[in-house]
Amino acid sequence: MFERLFIVPQDPLLKLINEFKQDTRQQKIDLGVGVYRNENGATPVMKAVRIAEERLLTSQQSKCYLGIAGDLEFLDMLGYLVFGGIRPKKSRFAYLQTPGGSAALRLGADIIKLSTPESTVWIGDPSWTNHIPIFTAAGLHVKTFPAISADKTGLDLDQMMSTLASTNAGDVLLLQGCGHNPSGMDLEAQEWKQVADLCVEKGIIPFLDLAYHGLVEGLEEDLKSISQVMEVVPEALVAVSCSKNFGLYRERTGALYAMAPNIKKAEISLTNLFALARVSYSMPPNHGAAIVKTILKNEGLKQEWEQELFDMRNRIKNIRKELHLQLTQVFPSSLDKGKGMFSLLPLTPQQIDKLKLDHGIYMPYSGRINIAGLNRNAIPAFVKSVSTVAQ
Ligand SMILES: Cc1ncc(COP(=O)(O)O)c(C=O)c1O
Repeated sequence: MFERLFIVPQDPLLKLINEFKQDTRQQKIDLGVGVYRNENGATPVMKAVRIAEERLLTSQQSKCYLGIAGDLEFLDMLGYLVFGGIRPKKSRFAYLQTPGGSAALRLGADIIKLSTPESTVWIGDPSWTNHIPIFTAAGLHVKTFPAISADKTGLDLDQMMSTLASTNAGDVLLLQGCGHNPSGMDLEAQEWKQVADLCVEKGIIPFLDLAYHGLVEGLEEDLKSISQVMEVVPEALVAVSCSKNFGLYRERTGALYAMAPNIKKAEISLTNLFALARVSYSMPPNHGAAIVKTILKNEGLKQEWEQELFDMRNRIKNIRKELHLQLTQVFPSSLDKGKGMFSLLPLTPQQIDKLKLDHGIYMPYSGRINIAGLNRNAIPAFVKSVSTVAQ
């Protein structure tokens, strides 16, 4: 068996992370990894998470299996946070806890493959580097639509809509709920409405990937995608990740919510989702979900979490603003048009290599930078380095 296997090239981002670790320069800057970093470059355990963990340690009575769905209270609390405004439709939802947002996406892909294997999944170009692999690994046919304008400085809705005009009924449209990875170019509320109308008109199923909820504009504001779309479409899938907004990356905490056209179909979908999960990871890990549940159930802890999330969001916004102000003096910057943690810089692979080799600045060849990887003190040095390699 093993003689038939060939080496799979390492994920370029993981390779970059290793190179960064091995770099002994003091002033090195990592803009590659997509995790939140504070002013000191750390990805700390959030305060509310720490307190919730302490409470769990003393109160948890058993580590026994919870079942395929995971923690039902967690699912309700998270569902309320994300779909609060569209609660009347709750009975049409089938949902289960998943090991992070990635597994929610994969499970969603698996159920699409099971129910409508002929459907094409439309994914933005660019999008998170793992999106296309997840859907193709599930055996689905993938096509792309332009998710940024041709000059890469914004989002061209007309261009996106004209590509999506060739979708067929039953196709799936994967969209990021907020804080687009890698471009930071999100749709405005009115544009979400147009996309939602297109889904209804053409019978396309939206699949929303919500990985940065609360890290862009606010817990309410970041849900305009969900509210505009879910209000009008009969069916939808939503993958929710708690990795970034609760800082629970390694605890693998997420959920998949599937909205069916009626209660009966929701019940049937749930049995299928359970069967798919059962033959994959069987049951989701509990620790992260128990933490999220503890926080969301307790008003004091929830406020603590919201405050820290607000501070994180503000830090990202301020760095983005400051970086744009300084960068735009020496290099084309559309940072002011984007939102959230990511932005694409129009650098060539040669310039990106030079940044790494000569200046200790790490980013993938796409030119995606994680804004949270910078702090105020590092911005001038970063801008100077970009200006040097761009000459
Ligand atoms: C757009 C997007 N979706 C989903 C995920 C998956 O997150 P996780 O599986 O860590 O919860 C990520 C992680 O970086 C992401 O950027």
